Amino acid sequence: MTVHFIGAGPGAPDLLTLRGRDLIASSPVCLYAGSLVPEAVLGHCPPGARIVNTAPMALDDIIAAIQEAHEAGHDVARLHSGDLSVWSAMGEQLRRLRGLGIPFTVTPGVPAFAAAAAALEAELTLPTIAQSVVLTRTPGRASTMPPAESLTNFAETGATLAIHLSIHNLAGVVGDLLPGYGRDCPVAVVYRASWPDQRIVRTTLATVEEAVAGSIERTALILVGRVLGSDSFAESSLYAADYDRRFRPQTADSRFAGRDE
Ligand SMILES: C[S@@+](CC[C@H](N)C(=O)[O-])C[C@H]1O[C@@H](n2cnc3c(N)ncnc32)[C@H](O)[C@@H]1O
Repeated sequence: MTVHFIGAGPGAPDLLTLRGRDLIASSPVCLYAGSLVPEAVLGHCPPGARIVNTAPMALDDIIAAIQEAHEAGHDVARLHSGDLSVWSAMGEQLRRLRGLGIPFTVTPGVPAFAAAAAALEAELTLPTIAQSVVLTRTPGRASTMPPAESLTNFAETGATLAIHLSIHNLAGVVGDLLPGYGRDCPVAVVYRASWPDQRIVRTTLATVEEAVAGSIERTALILVGRVLGSDSFAESSLYAADYDRRFRPQTADSRFAGRDE
């Protein structure tokens, strides 16, 4: 028996890895975080699977459900939205399972920020404009932030920001970012990227509050950065016709000539 932690992606049931889909299909028990994983993804479960929404459960109850499956010899598909490496609460579950000696695997998923960027048809790192993406959030009722990880600190870098779990705190986000990014800095709010009711608001820091006007209250990403509005960026050197590189040596005496790895 194994517990398979699977990144269930941003919402669309076909934005799962093949491995994730196959593990769901072969597991007789599925525990899913129903606050963000839509029922459409559960269509990959085998007929007759025991399907449990863990959204209303405490950690102790979730571990008890896993132990029950373990004792019955049933594999468990454990689904969390997006990818498991950010804000999935996987860490605390793995710590408990290690303590109990229950085996598990981890399968990555498509994170929400990538689905939102795809919806925007945007590259978040453009030459000369931004070369870093900060995945972050603002403090919530259940989560404080380490003091150095403030939006004002990140704003000093000019990096592209993908701000999670914060649409309810839009005024605070704008207040923290305006001094660093400026009123005209492009902002995109993407609600439920890849869901059938996906919605996109493209605006600026100065106007985002008015543009959203309380119409989006959860499951949205706030993307901030000059990459979102710019068509005037340099092309990457990597694909420049005269750029000497391992995969495209320019001359017979290039240091890359004759190397094929
Ligand atoms: C608990 S975090 C989960 C993040 C997830 N593990 C990931 O890899 O994206 C939930 C937050 O992610 C963002 N989010 C998750 N799914 C989303 C989607 N389909 N569209 C837009 N934002 C989403 C929202 O900011 C939401 O408040």
